Order: sequence, then C-alpha cells, then structure tokens
Amino acid sequence: MNAQTTSKVLFALSLSITKLCAAETTQLNPHETNKLTPVQQLGKEIFFDENLSSPRGQSCAGCHDPKAAFADAGLSAPVSSGAVESRTGTRNAPPAGYAAFSPVFHFDNEESLYFGGQFWDGRAANLTEQAKKPFLNADEMNNRNEAEVVDKLRTASYAGLFKQVYGLDVLNNTNQAFQAVAEALAAFESTPVFNRFSSKYDYFLAGQVELTEQEHKGLDLFNDANKGNCAACHPSTSDSKQPPLFTDFSYDNLGTPKNPAILAKKGQDFVDLGLGTIVNNVNENGKFKVPTLRNIAKTAPYMHNGVFQTLREAVDFYNTRDTDSKWGVPEVAENVNKDELGNLNLSSDEVDAIVAFLRTLSDGYHPETTAHFTTGTGLLTLPLISIESNAAKTVMASAVLKEMEGTKPSRYKLVSWQESKVAVPSDAGAVPHFSSDNGMLEIPLVNVDGEADFTAQLKRISGNNDNIFELVYLKPLQ
Ligand code: HEC
Ligand code: HEC
Repeated sequence: MNAQTTSKVLFALSLSITKLCAAETTQLNPHETNKLTPVQQLGKEIFFDENLSSPRGQSCAGCHDPKAAFADAGLSAPVSSGAVESRTGTRNAPPAGYAAFSPVFHFDNEESLYFGGQFWDGRAANLTEQAKKPFLNADEMNNRNEAEVVDKLRTASYAGLFKQVYGLDVLNNTNQAFQAVAEALAAFESTPVFNRFSSKYDYFLAGQVELTEQEHKGLDLFNDANKGNCAACHPSTSDSKQPPLFTDFSYDNLGTPKNPAILAKKGQDFVDLGLGTIVNNVNENGKFKVPTLRNIAKTAPYMHNGVFQTLREAVDFYNTRDTDSKWGVPEVAENVNKDELGNLNLSSDEVDAIVAFLRTLSDGYHPETTAHFTTGTGLLTLPLISIESNAAKTVMASAVLKEMEGTKPSRYKLVSWQESKVAVPSDAGAVPHFSSDNGMLEIPLVNVDGEADFTAQLKRISGNNDNIFELVYLKPLQ
C-alpha cells in the first residue's frame, strides 16, 4: 500500500471521533518478557531474586520497582532502606529504565565536560560495572564479598539457566560468575522491558495522538530557550533513529538545596559533592548527572537527594530559585549554574503547563486502538494499524475507509492514510494489522455504531490504484 496524499480534514476527523484514553501498565509486559534471549532471561531472574542480599529479602527490584518505572516505589522517602533495614544510603534511587543509553563515562575535550556513566555521580563507567556495586554495598544488598553472592547462585532455581548461558563450570569460578551476573543484568536492562518508548509523547511524535492544549503549551515552554529552557539539558528531540531520552548525559550543579531528612540521618554537616569527589576536582563539586525525564511522574521524590516531593515543586524551583528565599542555600555553593535557570519568569499557569507536559512522558500509554464503523456515514475508522511487509519492520499507521454504495460483498475505499516510521510499541494491545505482502487487513475488534463488537477481515483488491478493500468476513464477537 502506498502512502496516499492524506486528506487533512479526514485525518482530523478520524482523530476527533477517536476517544483517546490513557491506561497504565504496572506489571512486566508479557509481550516483552516472552521475547527475552537466555542471557536476558537470566538477568531477569537475578534482578528479581530476593535471596541475593544479606539478610535475604532485597532484590534489585526492591529499589527499582517495575510499578514505579524501575525507581523506588517508596514515594515519600528520599533514600531507600537496605537489606539491613536501619541502613540507608544518601541518594534517591534513580529509575533503571533508559540507563542503558548512557554512554561510557568520559571527559569530552571539545566541550570540556564530563559525560555519561552510571549513578548520579558517574562513578560506574557502564551498566556492567554498575550492576556489581549493589551486591556489596552495606547500605544495599550487603554481601561480604563476591564469593557470598556466587554461593547463593549455586542453589538458585535458575542455576541451570546460568550454566546453560555461561558454561557448566561458571559457578565454580567466583570472578567469572560475578562478572557474568553483572553482564546478564546489563543485558536485561538493555531490553524493551526497561526501555519501552511507549509514552503519550512517543505516540505524539509518531503523529498518532494530539497533545492537549495545555500539554502542547508545556512542550513549547520546555523547548523555548527564553522560557523554560529545559531542553538545553533534557533534549525533547533526537536526530538519531532512537526517540529522545530527555538527557544529554552531562553534569551540572543546579544549586539543589540540602534535604533535611538526609541530614537527620547522616549528620548536619553532611554534604554530597557529587562528580567532584569522583574526578577529584573542586571545579566539578556539586554536579550531578542530568537524569532522563522519561516516567518522571512516577518517580517522586526528585533530585539526587530527593529534596522535592512533587513535580510542581521541582519546576517551581527552576523558576524561582534566585527570586524566592524559601529554597534556602544550595547544598554545594560552588559551581552553581546561574546562566540557564533560577529566574525563568514563568507564570503559575506556565509552570502547570510544563508539569502537564512532563506527565505525557510516562510509558504504558494506550491510544485508542479499537476500530469503529458508523452505518450512517459508512466510515470505518482505524486509529492504529500495524503494517508488516517482508522487508520492513512493523510500523504504525492510521486510516479511514468509506463503504462504497451498492457493493456486495461490501467494498471500502481508502479515504485517509497516515503512516509513521515509528515501531508499534509492544504494549499497544490488539491492533488491526495489515500485511502489504498478501494485502490482508485483519481487524480483531471493530465497534459498530457504539453498540456491538465484531471481528473483521478485509482484502485489498489487487491491481487497482484506488486502494479498494473487499470485506472477507464480519463476525460478531461473543
Ligand atoms: C537499597 C536500594 C537499592 C538496591 C537494592 C539496588 N539499587 Fe540501584 N540504585 C539505588 C540508588 C540509591 C542509586 C543511586 C546511587 C548513586 O547515584 O550513588 C542506584 C542507581 C542505579 C543505577 C544507575 C541509574 C542511573 O541512571 O545512573 C542502576 C542502573 C541501578 N541502580 C541498577 C541496580 C541493579 C541492577 C541492582 C541489583 C543488582 C540495584 N540497582 C540494586 C538503589 C538501589
Ligand atoms: C543546565 C542543565 C539543566 C536544565 C536547563 C534543566 N535541568 Fe532538570 N536537571 C538537571 C540536573 C543536573 C538534574 C539533577 C540535579 C540534582 O540531582 O541535583 C536535573 C533534574 C531534574 C528533575 C528531577 C529528576 C529526577 O529524576 O529526580 C526534573 C523533574 C527536571 N530536572 C526537570 C527540568 C525542567 C522541567 C527544566 C526546565 C524548567 C529543567 N529540568 C532544566 C539539569 C538541567
């Protein structure tokens, strides 16, 4: 099927009669987990294994919960409890989602800036090095050494899978086995389970949904260098094939205030110097890695020390840091960025609009996928179609067809067709499917006149350039 010149009016019609709804997925998506390779599956077993802490009871997922977009689900606490409950670290758990895209930690000579790495301060070069740390951190999984972790793996239910992937002897060699654990975790964290790209904003970029007026205003403010200026560090567009990640992976000191809840545990003098400690350079003191804003509505509290409870508070801080004394002094007064934030002059409505936009970044958005047919107008609306051809990857489209009068079996003419190069998110539900190889259009669910549900199949009439489809069957759904 060739992309036709789309009738803008009809496409707008198809959108307006399509009720958009947002539902959120809280469980791991079976579409994604079914597709895991053995090494990724092994990473999944390890990620959720509560036996690998001392005492037992804490897994990676304990602080990186799928329900909270792989951040800590304990929304009000700035820091997570370790396996030993009285022990806590000093930082807010970031989401493990999209961490796989962070480049290896490095200094860029051209820009004279540090980039990438894992953790708020970049102290692990990459995901594999990161994955080794929590097991031995006394404030986290609290094992004495690598051998203690590997001992536990020997009796794990998935020890067989471990040997299948890494060799029969692997669990007899502590170094090798511990390295394998980290690699398997990194492999799992690099899958679509963690990197779903299924937010409302992703569908918007694909031309499949409209943002509300307020969300759109928020996006404009987010991008505008003279307004929010957020995209300067959290880019909302991408020039590569992969959708935007909302971080440039650089480091900055925003002048984030101290968090009294952390001082109460760690002492009033506690200061987190961030990147400065890692690279041993005072010019980097107080700088933390720019985090992704994907799923940000689900990962409160905010900033490296969790000092802000709500998104509105975080945005308000950017807006009035330098004009409202309520924010107090920065945790680290050196190197504070005074050029790009602090006095944005945004109205209260503008702050609300940015927050509304940030809420469109949560994965698991489900646009309406149900096809509709209206007898009065003869219009068959397909808000989302996945298209497959032998050569190409599955892409998305939306279409409107119109029943042709007096045809039997019924024929439908394509009146609107909008194609996008973006892949159909794996959690999009039962989506009508078109195969350009055999011309079949399968519609698992079509609602007629808002009353009854049917399932239908149409076949494209070959050898015509009018894009006419003939009904093969229309059956009621029980
Ligand atoms: C007790 C809670 C806790 C546990 C358990 C835990 N983490 Fe974390 N995780 C954190 C915190 C807190 C940070 C940030 C620490 C820092 O920046 O110093 C973090 C950071 C990370 C990051 C870096 C993300 C980024 O954007 O920089 C990844 C990835 C990650 N954890 C994965 C894991 C894996 C894999 C495991 C299991 C082996 C695990 N975590 C176990 C709390 C935890
Ligand atoms: C100069 C670069 C820069 C600009 C501009 C910027 N940010 Fe950030 N952003 C950061 C850094 C760095 C952090 C982490 C700081 C910390 O933890 O102390 C951060 C953290 C955040 C967080 C908390 C993330 C989390 O996981 O806890 C939110 C929300 C946020 N930014 C939104 C925005 C919005 C909205 C704007 C525009 C009004 C904006 N940022 C502008 C660099 C920037």
